[in-house]
Amino acid sequence: MNTEYFKKTFRDIFQAEAVLFKSPGRINIIGEHTDYNGGLVMPAAIDKAVYVAVSKRDDHEIHLYSESYQSKYVSSVAAIQKTEHNWVNYILGVANEMVQRGHQLGGFNLFIYGDVPLGAGLSSSAAVECATAFALNYINQLSIPQMELALISQKAEHTFAGVNCGIMDQFASVFGKKDQAMMLDCRSMEYEYIPLKLDGYKLVLLNTNVKHSLSDSAYNERREQCDKGVNWIKDHHASVEYLRDVTQEMLLAHVKAKDENVYRKCSYVVAEIERVKKAAAALKNGDLSTLGKLMFETHKGLSEDYEVSCKELDFLVDQVKGLDYVLGARMMGGGFGGCTLNIVRDEEIDRLIDNVSVKYLEKFGLKLDAYIVETGNGSQII
Ligand code: GLA
Repeated sequence: MNTEYFKKTFRDIFQAEAVLFKSPGRINIIGEHTDYNGGLVMPAAIDKAVYVAVSKRDDHEIHLYSESYQSKYVSSVAAIQKTEHNWVNYILGVANEMVQRGHQLGGFNLFIYGDVPLGAGLSSSAAVECATAFALNYINQLSIPQMELALISQKAEHTFAGVNCGIMDQFASVFGKKDQAMMLDCRSMEYEYIPLKLDGYKLVLLNTNVKHSLSDSAYNERREQCDKGVNWIKDHHASVEYLRDVTQEMLLAHVKAKDENVYRKCSYVVAEIERVKKAAAALKNGDLSTLGKLMFETHKGLSEDYEVSCKELDFLVDQVKGLDYVLGARMMGGGFGGCTLNIVRDEEIDRLIDNVSVKYLEKFGLKLDAYIVETGNGSQII
């Protein structure tokens, strides 16, 4: 990111001096659809980020400019409303949530730019929200703790983007550290850093370049199915609050007969939480082959039981299954498109990308994009 260019462009547009913030996108090694079930996740921040330049205004107006969309938007602190532009909603959603929580916001100019690929499941929206939250916290001198900035960002996604997401993406974008994965307990919000030691291997993202439109509605529906299962179990086990507190035996006893579909959804989540624990142990022991096997299991669960995969993602995982230089692969994120995450031996990466790209183009007529993951630090002023 060329900070001088960014500052100069800001000056040209707003005739003011900017302060700059950066919030990264994320990958998730394992622990998918577990965050909103009080479970465990294992994300890491990446080196692709959203950048926000911001300055305070003397009035109460909000002036936004997006470099990627070459588009402007004007609003005011007193009249923050949802719009039909997603990029605007992520920013206004954060401002709105701060106001709702009683924080005093003044007017501001904000210029946004990013290199997190959009629609790839790398949480570009969480990055926009977190960068905005850090920026508004700073210029208004609000001293909001970092965890609350993540929660404010998550709430913006619920209220202004309409997705009832968990906390994983915003957490990763705030707390990420270079060369570290993080295991977050989404019930207690305790977390630990786990060094990403991948000796001889790298994490490779294969981007389907598709995002099927049902992704948001299906996401919210999955949440409801999980809640349904929890409620049925609560009738028998009052202390159960999340699927995190549930065992496979409880699901068999109280959910399976009522609704086979809800049972499969819940059973996937309970199994996935166990897989995260095993994956953390494997990563700490440098046992990448166990980690890889767990990733393949996660994909199977997401595809067959949780039903959030799609033919493009399944195809990409099938292509690498059985290759001795790919230890693990799975779809990543909410589903219905975006990327697969693969653990690939260093010297085979180019060959793998070439081979799979040709086959993907043949099969779907679509270009495959591939990125070798570099981890990065969390949200910060720059
Ligand atoms: C999306 C959501 C996250 C999480 C994942 C699935 O990325 O924003 O909160 O639920 O899907 O693991």
